[in-house]
Amino acid sequence: MEKREHFSSRLGFILISAGCAIGLGNVWRFPYITGKYGGAAFVLIYLLFLVILGLPIMVMEFSVGRASQKSAARSFHVLEPAGTKWHITGYLAIAGNYLLMMFYTTVGGWMLYYVYKMARGEFVGQTPDQVGATFGGMLGDPKAMTIWMLIMVFICFGICSLGLQKGVERITKVMMSFLLIILVILCIRSVTLEGAAEGIRFYLIPDFGKMIENGLGEAVYAAMGQAFFTLSLGIGAMAIFGSYISKEHRLLGESVNICLLDTLIALMAGLVIFPACFAFGVDPGEGPGLVFITLPNIFNKMAGGRLFGTLFFIFMSFAAMSTIIAVFENIISFSIDLGNWSRKKAVIVNGILIIVLSMPCVLGFNVLSNIAPLGAGSTIQDLEDFIVSNNLLPLGSLLYLLFCTSKRGWGWKNFIAEADAGQGPKFPQWARFYISYILPLIVVFILIMGYWQKFFA
Ligand code: PHE
Repeated sequence: MEKREHFSSRLGFILISAGCAIGLGNVWRFPYITGKYGGAAFVLIYLLFLVILGLPIMVMEFSVGRASQKSAARSFHVLEPAGTKWHITGYLAIAGNYLLMMFYTTVGGWMLYYVYKMARGEFVGQTPDQVGATFGGMLGDPKAMTIWMLIMVFICFGICSLGLQKGVERITKVMMSFLLIILVILCIRSVTLEGAAEGIRFYLIPDFGKMIENGLGEAVYAAMGQAFFTLSLGIGAMAIFGSYISKEHRLLGESVNICLLDTLIALMAGLVIFPACFAFGVDPGEGPGLVFITLPNIFNKMAGGRLFGTLFFIFMSFAAMSTIIAVFENIISFSIDLGNWSRKKAVIVNGILIIVLSMPCVLGFNVLSNIAPLGAGSTIQDLEDFIVSNNLLPLGSLLYLLFCTSKRGWGWKNFIAEADAGQGPKFPQWARFYISYILPLIVVFILIMGYWQKFFA
């Protein structure tokens, strides 16, 4: 068997884990659901969930990965007490990674397509209706969407095929650095626009009254979903990176760094988008079309818009790619761990598989648009997103949590011993009661409430 490769540096580990976390969830989903649920009040609930739900679960995922030195496909087999069935969680995790990619590659392709369109100046001089029609036109064009999805898949599997250190680590590091630089430039541009203040207010000053009017329960459910989604928790996507590091540093400190980076990028993405919306009188509650329809319109009205627009979509593409690479790395290592395959074989077989599996999402917007699995107007993508974000991620997170706290699982003692191996801040022992008994109840409660609202209310 090939020896398990490790990251070459701690920075590599942190940037790649952050790259996995930082993705469309930060730059596309976060701004539009924040817009939808009324701005700052939603942001506060989301931040609270990051700390009380996300952070402890991230430490658990890393611990399971590092202790087992395996991907989610095998880690439970290695750590579970003999005769127990925890390893079923691993199959859930595998399903989650594939399902996520089934729609993620398509949206990633949209981002690349928009880089191309922006750079060519296609939006210059277009009216808002024309900009909207361009997005609609893309969704209606299965050929274009397939091609850009394919380009995305090829680039990302190509990078993974070079290996963990030479491919994934080296290239993600560069991409994440560029991403940060581009984001700072865009932020400065946006908050210095005339009329930006109104947007900053919407984004940073909470109005709970408005939120309650729009349905508090729904906002809380969305905030929890977003917290799991943005930190990539519940399907072992992060756990794998724990399996690529040594026991030099305690895992709480590493997780705090990654959560901070992820949050910083999400908050800054909002600082790019909301001031610009208000400066040009555009509704931020637009939904998923926010970055594809609203923003090109804004760039059209802005001096140097073509340049800033191109930079913006490069930024979005990098965010998407760093996540896709990370999840492909998971998928590849499932095959390596389960079937003892070589990396090359895993890349080729999974590359083909992912392309085939991405097609329902692509076609769901055009050829198969008569299929509306979640009610009128919904798409196959909505269904896939719902299964992953509202079911597999919270459920998987719950299972990781129970595994690490229950005597019949891996158990608290083993978990703490692993999390606290090395240097850095210790995992707080006083949190044991909260984590073992209260945290799972919060997750279960919000899950049930979410179902209730979605299907019965
Ligand atoms: N965190 C990623 C994003 O924000 C999405 C993701 C979820 C990745 C779950 C892996 C696992 O885009």
